[in-house]
Amino acid sequence: MAATIIDGKALAAKKKAQVAEQAAKLKSRPGLAVILVGDDPASRVYVTSKRRDCEECGFYSEEFALPAETGQKALLELVDTLNERPEIDGILCQLPLPKGYDYDEQEVLLHIAPSKDVDAFHPTNVGKIMIGDYDFLPCTPAGVMEMLKEYNIDPAGKHCVVVGRSNIVGKPQAMLLLHKHGTVTICHSRTPDLASITRQADILVAAVGRVNLITADMVKPGAVVIDVAMNRNAAGKLCGDVDFAPVAEIASYITPVPGGVGPMTRAMLMENTLTAARLHGKE
Ligand code: GUN
Repeated sequence: MAATIIDGKALAAKKKAQVAEQAAKLKSRPGLAVILVGDDPASRVYVTSKRRDCEECGFYSEEFALPAETGQKALLELVDTLNERPEIDGILCQLPLPKGYDYDEQEVLLHIAPSKDVDAFHPTNVGKIMIGDYDFLPCTPAGVMEMLKEYNIDPAGKHCVVVGRSNIVGKPQAMLLLHKHGTVTICHSRTPDLASITRQADILVAAVGRVNLITADMVKPGAVVIDVAMNRNAAGKLCGDVDFAPVAEIASYITPVPGGVGPMTRAMLMENTLTAARLHGKE
């Protein structure tokens, strides 16, 4: 039997409507500043979408599109200014920063006030997630957890296999599944015989960024398959890490690309910005 397709787009619309309703009750509206350095086309698309999401949720938003040669010092100064401005609750610096210009991403992330760190990339927030006592969850893993909840998929007692170990997705995803009592295995590019491990997964999260990394022979029949990646195949079409059609034949649930995790990531950014506004006393 073919898998149920998890509709990230519909769930994201529902989530954003809830956020908009909550935001309307605040004393003043949540504000998000998005910084984009350079002209990476994919980043440009993400940033434009985030502005549209802010409009939908009734948020104030400001976009800072800076030339690639802006430099670390000026970027840090902008972050300092935004940290001080009360109408700004969330600061997001779109990653990656341009290559070949001597940017230090970690230093930029460290500069963002933890209460405005709506990506949850600051070490203070990363540490809080680790101990399960947090204000913000990183948007993509949090979006995945919301999808599981919506479809009544409980990680408790399940073998959850996360393929990918990035700070943005793989590592925090593993931690959130662990918090929900999953038994978690993290795999990566140096894992020998990846298929032997993915085949054990009740819940499989693919977050590597390689077209067709996960083929049907690597998936246990009935598994839940979550595809976090956003790639372009040889024909230029958007796709994830999972060989969708054959895997959908054997999985119980699967997320599509596009229309799966991506819209949820953006919805969770709106939720984090609402949380930040509350932290800043706008309730
Ligand atoms: N680049 C790709 N994904 C993200 C994200 O979630 N946040 C930021 N800041 N940059 C990204």
